[in-house]
Amino acid sequence: GISGRKVNVLVVGLDNSGKTTIIERLKPRPKQSSDVVPTVGFTVEELQKGGLTFTVFDMSGAGRYRTLWEQYYREADAVIFVVDSADKLRMVVARDEMEHMLRHPNLRKVPVLYFANKKDLPVAMPPVEIAQALGLEDIKDRPWQIVPSNGLTGEGVDQGVEWLSERLG
Ligand code: GTP
Ligand code: MG
Repeated sequence: GISGRKVNVLVVGLDNSGKTTIIERLKPRPKQSSDVVPTVGFTVEELQKGGLTFTVFDMSGAGRYRTLWEQYYREADAVIFVVDSADKLRMVVARDEMEHMLRHPNLRKVPVLYFANKKDLPVAMPPVEIAQALGLEDIKDRPWQIVPSNGLTGEGVDQGVEWLSERLG
């Protein structure tokens, strides 16, 4: 098909937040897999979306693998940070990991798209509350956006990626 500019997108966030599930929703429907397992280390996918060719780095969010994230900051044109909206207990852990990430010199000015994922769960926090819990209003050195999503149905996923594409195109 028609392939536009190539961009590298790093997908991070705590384990079980729904990163791999969301990435599946970006694939053409026949190629989507519904049985997703926890990522070991990381995987790389190439996807066409909105006239761009995305090389997506799907990182494991498990504690023992989080140190791998920064290996890819240098090449990243954008970051997708996935949050489990229902995981109130670990919101502070997500914030710690995110702040650590944003402080890294190799990731300066790169746009960050936050997916407030699992919006379907009854205990899901609204995106405004998540933004507050993560301290997003304090981010002044880069474009950022938070979009509620449902990785199972794909709701919100295209909307988020469109925002990112507008910053990369
Ligand atoms: P790691 O690879 O371990 O870092 O996890 P991950 O962030 O890639 O999460 P993964 O995509 O494996 O999803 C974890 C679980 O959450 C799976 O059982 C998914 O089916 C489920 N899940 C993902 N998105 C949603 C969502 O929007 N709503 C609900 N209810 N469940 C979801
Ligand atoms: Mg995964």
